[in-house]
Amino acid sequence: MDIWKPVALVSDISPDTGTLRVEHEGEGVCLYDLQGEICATQDRCPHGNASLADGYLEDGTIECPLHQGVFDIRTGKPQCPPVTTDLRRYDVRVEADTVYLKAE
Ligand code: FES
Repeated sequence: MDIWKPVALVSDISPDTGTLRVEHEGEGVCLYDLQGEICATQDRCPHGNASLADGYLEDGTIECPLHQGVFDIRTGKPQCPPVTTDLRRYDVRVEADTVYLKAE
């Protein structure tokens, strides 16, 4: 049986940035509000020491604040240099405004 852990409220996700950094099982995770669809990836950019929660969200992509690498949030796939590594994605469940991530 899957175990889901509450990590935040949907309303905690900044309406300005559309992102929120949370901790989940010792890892930094970035939550995204894609116009009501909540997604989650690793927060640390695989290219360097940057938090994607500080990045720029647009049309289902996140642009890293450090070197402007872009990822597709739903697939985790890198979209342009300098990023070449997929983001780890997390399964998300939302119930009554609470965001849950699947435990390992
Ligand atoms: Fe994210 Fe370089 S640290 S693109």
